[in-house]
Amino acid sequence: AAAEKAGYEHFMMKEICEEPKAIKDTIGPRIKNGRVVLDDIELTEEYVKNIGKIHIVACGTAYHAGVIAKYIIEKTARIPVEVDVASEFRYRDPIVTDKDMAIIISQSGETLDTLFALREAKKKGARVLSIVNVVESTIARESDDVLYTWAGPEIAIASTKAYNAQLCALYLLTLELAYKRGCMSEEQYKNIIEGLQTIPDAIEDILGNKGAIQRFASSHCNVKNIFFIGRGLDYALSMEGSLKLKEVSYIHSEAYAGGELKHGTIALIEDGTLVVCPVTQDDLMDKMISNIKEVKARGATVLAIARESNEQVHKVADEVFTIPDVDPFIAPVAAVTPLQLFAYYMAVVKGCDVDKPRNLTKSVTVE
Ligand code: G6P
Repeated sequence: AAAEKAGYEHFMMKEICEEPKAIKDTIGPRIKNGRVVLDDIELTEEYVKNIGKIHIVACGTAYHAGVIAKYIIEKTARIPVEVDVASEFRYRDPIVTDKDMAIIISQSGETLDTLFALREAKKKGARVLSIVNVVESTIARESDDVLYTWAGPEIAIASTKAYNAQLCALYLLTLELAYKRGCMSEEQYKNIIEGLQTIPDAIEDILGNKGAIQRFASSHCNVKNIFFIGRGLDYALSMEGSLKLKEVSYIHSEAYAGGELKHGTIALIEDGTLVVCPVTQDDLMDKMISNIKEVKARGATVLAIARESNEQVHKVADEVFTIPDVDPFIAPVAAVTPLQLFAYYMAVVKGCDVDKPRNLTKSVTVE
């Protein structure tokens, strides 16, 4: 197994470093002459125009990719989207009709709850499209359409590159839906495609600066609680950052929408509490800056994830992990990487078993 790590100390780090490739492999073959071409699935214009509702169902990290998808599909394709964790969806008798589309997301393609949720959606008449990493897995086989993520094998229990690849597949799908429904201008369409193509380099850049993240982790590894706060896509991203951290470092953490701070969480902020704030959404920048000021006024130490040009953030946060200036709409694909690295280094400094965290398994195939 040491050989398969190709010189890396852990699979988790190896897999984070493979993100640029996972992204290229997932989007590369599906962009031809500047257009999204999804040969592998059937999405006729007539079908797309008549979708009533989209149900996204998944577990864990894949669920968090689904939360991002809700924001981007609703914003651009204007189709109502519901996101559920599979174990809730399958038991709540959800309202699904034969005009609906179900998007099932799973790295392994074998998660039991997700599989049963797929069957439930199908039984109720939805057409099922799955986003899966393992070829010919059960979920892939039972779906009407499969949009594979080409992230390659993921060994570390905590999912990293599969998440970036899931997001890429979801962005491509969103472009296709929005375009076929006539909701997206040529310019917007072009910008997003070009933006996605720059993400691998952006992540290389982030990986080149990982020393700063390691240093920050080393000096903050004794904290007992961490809060992740974000708005919009950054809120969805915060959920994933928080999950990654608790999975591998066992530090208690929670993710909150910035606007919810006042409704409880702020009571827990005291001197030295670490608050992690991804701030990549320009339209929500001012609101997040106020949130940062609020927690700082109560003694918090703020670590922000921001784009190079977001100078305001650099001014208010105690520490910033900078990411290149990618378009805010696609920023999560790159902005998750510093959060994964942060979780990784926190775990390493604490001496945790990074690739095999206690009590967790790669794929939950039992109830
Ligand atoms: C387990 C893994 C997670 C993963 C989740 C869903 O909890 O430890 O990393 O996100 O299952 O797995 P799936 O294979 O369905 O994406």
